Amino acid sequence: MTTPNERRTFAIISHPDAGKTTLTEKLLLGGGAIHIAGEVKARGARRHAHSDWMEMERTRGISITSSVMTFEYRDITFNLLDTPGHADFSEDTYRTLTAVDSAIMVLDAAKGIETQTRKLFEVCRMRDIPIITFINKMDREVRDPFDLLDEIEKTLALDATPLTWPIGMGKDFKGCYDLLNNRYIPFSSDAEDIPAPIDVTGTDDPKLAALIPADLLTQLQESIYLLQEAGKKFDVQSYLEGHLTPVFFGSALRNFGVGDLLEGLYNFAPPPGTQKATTREVLPGEQKVSAFVFKIQANMDPNHRDRVAFIRLCSGTFKRGMKLTHVRSNKTMAVQNPVFFLARERSLTEEAYPGDILGIPNHGTLRIGDTLTEGEPLYFSGIPSFAPEILRRVRLDDPIKAKGMRKALEDLAEEGVSQLFKPILGSEWIVGVVGQLQLEVLTTRIDTEYRVRVGFEQTQFETARWISASDKIELQKFIDRNRNQIAEDIDNRPVFLTNSTWELNYTKEKWPEIQFHTTREQAV
Ligand code: G4P
Repeated sequence: MTTPNERRTFAIISHPDAGKTTLTEKLLLGGGAIHIAGEVKARGARRHAHSDWMEMERTRGISITSSVMTFEYRDITFNLLDTPGHADFSEDTYRTLTAVDSAIMVLDAAKGIETQTRKLFEVCRMRDIPIITFINKMDREVRDPFDLLDEIEKTLALDATPLTWPIGMGKDFKGCYDLLNNRYIPFSSDAEDIPAPIDVTGTDDPKLAALIPADLLTQLQESIYLLQEAGKKFDVQSYLEGHLTPVFFGSALRNFGVGDLLEGLYNFAPPPGTQKATTREVLPGEQKVSAFVFKIQANMDPNHRDRVAFIRLCSGTFKRGMKLTHVRSNKTMAVQNPVFFLARERSLTEEAYPGDILGIPNHGTLRIGDTLTEGEPLYFSGIPSFAPEILRRVRLDDPIKAKGMRKALEDLAEEGVSQLFKPILGSEWIVGVVGQLQLEVLTTRIDTEYRVRVGFEQTQFETARWISASDKIELQKFIDRNRNQIAEDIDNRPVFLTNSTWELNYTKEKWPEIQFHTTREQAV
């Protein structure tokens, strides 16, 4: 048997319009996964070149945006996980980030770090995910590169070390200087024409003077001098620990700088690492299979109610048909028809390795955060549900549809689109979301997929906290005393609904035995 390629599992994060789609397409082209430029742009079903996926879309009517794209570059297999492309921070994006080992941050060179997406980048920082930065659209009039680096350092508290440096910009963009290898990488505005890099001895090499206009060359020499004197040196370890980001400049549209980025990813991005579970740490080299669900995607076709659970493999070699324990229910499930996102040849897709993503069709058994193992009762840490920042009471326009509404709310909560709370008193439902956009998605999906019209109304509650206590009697006492503010989440865990931060703090002081959690994970 041949040894499998090493894996690099990563996500591209960016503000909408910074060029994520264009860059993805060029990376896939670079890796040879697609052959027609523009294929990724054609969103929807056509985006998949994968046979299993297409087959499933055809037979089950499932149409899913391409959530995982796999390509090979030299001797490494790259799994690229898609993150939803909207400005609002969403739980969905956060969960995708729990399944990757590194990220590429794409910035529009004219805009830098944009406010709405800052939170997303901060989440990567919080988890110390190694980030490679690609500053895009250098073929346009853009901001001063030093300014951009400064902004990354200040807003994200992340050292930014350029590995390439732009020469000019917009109409006068002449390419980049490769600081690691001392090469000049000439720019051509034709994406099909990629001129070969030219080795030089340094920025004072006479070869450069013949290729770059004098004023731009002087500017380059000054910039490189400044970087060498005052800039942070590139340190792989610091990158891997999430404290430093190597920066590449380029133009995804013109396919410039993408090869250098890919090379950077190949050389520096970390392989699948150790995953923390509640009881121990799981090493990717362990023999037995373990995996967790980080995303659920429901069928967009209302006639079929199948969902696909996306799992990330943490250890072991997964084989088609394998029987795994679903830890939450302690039941065995035979994984007969998983969707492999691996190589293009179907015959090669019988196995998956740590770092790989599999799609498992199911009828709702698998939930976000669930673990599949070969028997061990493991729970992986780090896949939280967040305390909602917006709570709304659900109003049903047509009371006959109460059952349908309940089903819709439960399904979508299981899928992670929103959270659902059932107050223990009364008959209403309360949904919780982290951002306004989630509410809009919820309304639209309930209407189009379940044919139920709902509205959302203000409640007196402002936020929710999962509650727990080591003393179960004390917890019950708290619940009994505060019945009009207690609800249960989708898994019947108790939640305290509160009117204000002030009230929450007051309650915390009054009940020191009770723990109030901002993520559900902490309440496990
Ligand atoms: P996104 O996925 O991050 O939202 O961005 P996307 O790749 O869709 O790119 C957003 C717009 O920016 C697109 O233009 C795209 O062509 C353009 N773009 C991406 N990379 C570059 C680049 O390096 N240089 C320049 N000049 N433009 C770039 P659009 O007009 O919105 O779409 P389209 O009509 O080109 O498809």
